[in-house]
Amino acid sequence: MSLDIVILAAGQGTRMRSALPKVLHPVAGKPMLGHVIDTARMLSPRKIHVVIGHGAELVRERLAADDINFVLQAEQLGTGHAVAQALPALEAEKVLILYGDVPLTRVETLTRLLEQANDAQLGLLTVNLADPTGYGRIVRDANGVVQAIVEHKDASEAQRAIREGNTGILAVPGKRLGDWLGRLSNSNAQGEYYLTDVIAMAVADGLVVATETAQDEMEVLGANDRIQLSQLECHYQQRMARQLMAQGVTLFDPHRFDVRGEVTVGRDVTIDINVILEGKVVIEDNVQIGPNCVIKDSILRRGSIVKANSHLEGAEVGEGADCGPFARLRPGAKLGAKAHVGNFVELKNAVLGEGAKAGHLSYLGDAEIGARTNIGAGTITCNYDGANKHKTVMGEDVFIGSNSSIVAPVTLGDGATTGAGSTVTQDVPAKALAVGRAKQRNIEGWKRPQKTPK
Ligand code: UD1
Ligand code: CA
Repeated sequence: MSLDIVILAAGQGTRMRSALPKVLHPVAGKPMLGHVIDTARMLSPRKIHVVIGHGAELVRERLAADDINFVLQAEQLGTGHAVAQALPALEAEKVLILYGDVPLTRVETLTRLLEQANDAQLGLLTVNLADPTGYGRIVRDANGVVQAIVEHKDASEAQRAIREGNTGILAVPGKRLGDWLGRLSNSNAQGEYYLTDVIAMAVADGLVVATETAQDEMEVLGANDRIQLSQLECHYQQRMARQLMAQGVTLFDPHRFDVRGEVTVGRDVTIDINVILEGKVVIEDNVQIGPNCVIKDSILRRGSIVKANSHLEGAEVGEGADCGPFARLRPGAKLGAKAHVGNFVELKNAVLGEGAKAGHLSYLGDAEIGARTNIGAGTITCNYDGANKHKTVMGEDVFIGSNSSIVAPVTLGDGATTGAGSTVTQDVPAKALAVGRAKQRNIEGWKRPQKTPK
């Protein structure tokens, strides 16, 4: 059966106390609404309809995509009213309702729910709660058959004792929806058009309301304030940590590890504490990551080692290569197999060939460095003249003496050497020694200036 998904995201979220629309607040670095949209996509719908209102322009701007139809709900008159705004665009046999501020629902749960919905049946996702305050309650008859949902504010004392709460997530036959929504009224405690009233209408029309239960509360929790937002963040991180451990990663402490993106891992990877993985990160077999590293949009090849306090973005660390402690690899940094980058070395758009080394305190930008070349401590590629970036090319087996300034554009041939402290402004032929520094002279018997006694 074809599927349309409607995501409600028009509410204000006053309790966030924020200039940012609630659904744009991030969980694991991605707007909550982004999580919901990604989950929706995994269900292969015909179309995803996002109902927006508060901060509509910003939400639209941030999440626009070809498969998304934004629908404006100018005034927030209730969840039923919100879904009604999307009605003209709904064509599928099944309609699934999701919420932009409920980011962690599992695809598996929604798939089970959708299996319950057909022309004669609704699928309703419920959750059993220790404290159901605020939630709509699922009202069943003596045989356990669902009759209605009653909102907390409209519920009697007896109904408030019901622990089974409405998650709001609902799958309905598309062709019935228009009729039901058209018949909603707002004569209730909140003066809103409740989507939940559809349940009693469906029952009256002879349809069955089949329920699925969420595995845990977090799966259906919405963030109304920053405390709940942090709970979702924690839960998401624990979920990711468990997933990675199940795939063969040793996490020294799963409570001190964060993923803000997509991570692909091999086996026997070890990750020390306080590591943050962002964007798209690929970690191959036997990689070791030390404590306090931030690794973004990077590839760590088989057996490579990233030592403590390193920061990587858009980088590739080759097979058996290592970097850090305190390495900074910026976009375009690429370490060949067994290459070595030590402490306080920054690479940007720079390729280190196989077995090349930059052990200490260097800046290598816009550079191509051949295999086995050794970059001495304090080497700087002067790649920027204030207007343009220039390239440094070094061949294989080059030896750069400590504290050299390599002024690009410049090329050093295979086996070239530079004397320590040189400023290299001209190409160096293969195997030549370049010395570009003032010649030392000694002044015998030099008298240092003396302090005059007071
Ligand atoms: C709703 C359900 C309740 C359920 C609870 C779960 C109704 C009437 N009640 O209550 O049974 O237990 O969720 O959290 O549906 N929204 C719009 N436009 C509107 C109103 C709401 O887009 O006009 C969006 C909000 O941004 C929010 C979601 O719908 O994301 C839920 O709205 P809210 O008013 O918070 O519903 P609840 O009172 O929590
Ligand atoms: Ca709510």
